[in-house]
Amino acid sequence: MSHSTAPVGIIDSGIGGFSVVRQVQKLLPGEDLLYFGDGAHIPYGNHAEEAITAMARYMFRFMEDRGVKALLVACNTISCVMDRLEEVASCPVFNAVQAGASAVAGLEVDKVGVISTVFTHNSRIYPQKILAQSPRKLVVLSCGCPDLARLVEHNLGRGEGAAEIESNLRLELDHMVLEDRVDCCLLGCTHYPLVAGTIQKLYPGLPLIDPAEEMARSLKNYLDREGLGNPRTGAGALTIYTTGGPEEYALRAKQVGLERVAGVEFYPPMEVL
Ligand code: DGL
Repeated sequence: MSHSTAPVGIIDSGIGGFSVVRQVQKLLPGEDLLYFGDGAHIPYGNHAEEAITAMARYMFRFMEDRGVKALLVACNTISCVMDRLEEVASCPVFNAVQAGASAVAGLEVDKVGVISTVFTHNSRIYPQKILAQSPRKLVVLSCGCPDLARLVEHNLGRGEGAAEIESNLRLELDHMVLEDRVDCCLLGCTHYPLVAGTIQKLYPGLPLIDPAEEMARSLKNYLDREGLGNPRTGAGALTIYTTGGPEEYALRAKQVGLERVAGVEFYPPMEVL
């Protein structure tokens, strides 16, 4: 039985889910948020399916033990293996890929570019879901980026690191944007919206789609519908757990503008398979 005062859980392989926290804090400021970033095992996008499923189950259990009233899978890579995970959650689960595909379905565009991790790209989940959901005839191009999530995780905001992110973005996106001329770009990894400003600087005028907005909206609709919104009048708090470095996570939370961080704690990682 869910309680309106229970927290909302948000999971990702690293800090990528902060892009989702940002939107949830904007839309639902009264909610308490519990975040888990598996910093010890990022990047998930370069792991095999069994490892991703096992690591995701570990985070699902963490959230289950804390009685969250809803769980946001703020990781597109984990979203690809959701059919093997739904049964481990007793609360409603919202995933990033579903949100991204729905966001695209409502757009008046002909050619969509999707950038994601290699695992998400290889799964073909985005082209399949977008084509199945869109009422228009669309061309969907997909590009898997092996290094980008890791670079964003560890290099955000630093001079040399920022230059490395920029040159990696060019390497991955130039072809899709400048030659294939996509109408918009879906950010199919939650780390990428954290560098949306850099992408916009490199490709001015390119519309970017961040599934986080749709995820936050779906969560709000669910909480409103079920009468599960936190009834408090003040603001909720964000508590962050990571299997990586709490200091790095505290810094990143600040850099990307997260608010009301009540604590950043270390949590022991699952043993690597
Ligand atoms: N942020 C994750 C995603 O949305 C994955 C990054 C990674 O661990 O490779 O796919």
